[in-house]
Amino acid sequence: MSDPVYFVLVIDHDVGIAADFGRALLGLPVAVLRAGDRAEGISFYREFLPQMVLLDAELDDGEVPLHDLFANDSALEVVLMTDRWTQTGALAAAARGASDLLTKPLEPSKVRQLVSGFIAQAETRRHTQELDNELLEACQFQGMVGRSPRMLEVFSRVRRVAPLFQTALITGPTGTGKELIARALHNLSPRSREKFVVCDCSALTETLLESQLFGHVKGAFTGATLDRAGLFEYANRGTLFLDEIGELSLRAQAKLLRILQSQELQRVGSPVTTTVDIHLIAATNRDVRELTSKGQFREDLFYRLSMIEIQLAPLADRKVDLPLLQRHFLQHFSTKYGKRLNGISRRAQILLTRHSWPGNVRELENVIGNACIMAQGKIIRDEDLPEAIRVQMARPDRGAPFMTLEEVQSHHLEYVLKQVDGNKARAAEILGVSRATIYVMLARRIGNVCHAMPLTVAATSDRRG
Ligand SMILES: Nc1ncnc2c1ncn2[C@@H]1O[C@H](COP(=O)(O)OP(=O)(O)O)[C@@H](O)[C@H]1O
Ligand SMILES: [Mg+2]
Repeated sequence: MSDPVYFVLVIDHDVGIAADFGRALLGLPVAVLRAGDRAEGISFYREFLPQMVLLDAELDDGEVPLHDLFANDSALEVVLMTDRWTQTGALAAAARGASDLLTKPLEPSKVRQLVSGFIAQAETRRHTQELDNELLEACQFQGMVGRSPRMLEVFSRVRRVAPLFQTALITGPTGTGKELIARALHNLSPRSREKFVVCDCSALTETLLESQLFGHVKGAFTGATLDRAGLFEYANRGTLFLDEIGELSLRAQAKLLRILQSQELQRVGSPVTTTVDIHLIAATNRDVRELTSKGQFREDLFYRLSMIEIQLAPLADRKVDLPLLQRHFLQHFSTKYGKRLNGISRRAQILLTRHSWPGNVRELENVIGNACIMAQGKIIRDEDLPEAIRVQMARPDRGAPFMTLEEVQSHHLEYVLKQVDGNKARAAEILGVSRATIYVMLARRIGNVCHAMPLTVAATSDRRG
């Protein structure tokens, strides 16, 4: 295996300087490129993505200082060179993020020492990244990644259950991977070559849902002009995935139970029964036990479904999975968007770790996907993350003033609402306040304050526990 080659880009009018560098760096695994002016420098930078740029300080001036372009790439070391460093010039260069300064004429031993140091750092980074990638591979399961004890337990359960199950229930908050688990169960089952059909029970009205699931005959209801098979018939011999089963009406629950117990199906409006052979996987983000105790979910159906139950934990309860998931999505999106991203800055990682992830893995996926679009260099930096995640630090050193508590609250509310598709009940649950409080906060944000309402209500008065 040959050593990896690092690119060193020298941007300088002086033609002879490349030869000086060549001599100084003899034997090191680097290739030296020279650009004679700004434009060439930028084009070489874009084409070769060098790890190091040595820039003549005089070429750094201009409308957009070259340095600003490079400063956006934190995987890049930028060294400025000049024959006359003034104290202010040197300080300014350092403030703009130059990794080092060199004085001309260049001293070969100094140049060599500097570049060797950068190579050593880059090697360490590359090694860490290889280890990360190996770990990622080892922790893959059916398109999912995870290494937390909880996820490993889930993977192992799926492996054991898949060859045998007839019905299964998957529970967990939204965005935790319920659908992926359902697909894994199907893919590892003897029916993997048959259909896997998905129905989201929360997306349709009661009548439409029943007709969608069980089919109907002509004239069964207004608009039923033809006989139509439902998803149970369509998925026959395969697997049907019923998402958000907690939304199913009691009547539909009764029909479902009958199919599970006797494999008998009646289309809506028809006395005729047909036989179907279905593996059923149901999922819900609601507490079905509680629904049963309230009489909203049939107990017999619940017992039937939950003989095999797979519970997915919120991401906040398995943060060890975060780095792996981040790397997984980083790889996915950088391929998708044709970028050469290979890491996440330490600062960005800290922000990601501190975040509470109310939207779970789906939220993380969105955040990394957006950051991949925003990222300009080879790594994702804190600037590339959405404001709601950066806000946690609310640092004044970036020129932004501290936010007031009310502003933080309002930002956070907006963020959580976005993650739950504007569902105020879910947002209230996540934030630990009543739904009324959410409305008060929203009203206050648009300046529509009801002054009769005590303003403290949003912050404290009805927190749970
Ligand atoms: N462990 C995981 N590894 C990789 N991707 C995951 C994982 N869990 C969830 N995802 C991704 O997160 C998103 C939400 O998952 P999904 O199965 O639709 O969640 P749910 O059905 O619980 O709302 C999907 O894009 C899915 O691919
Ligand atoms: Mg889902």
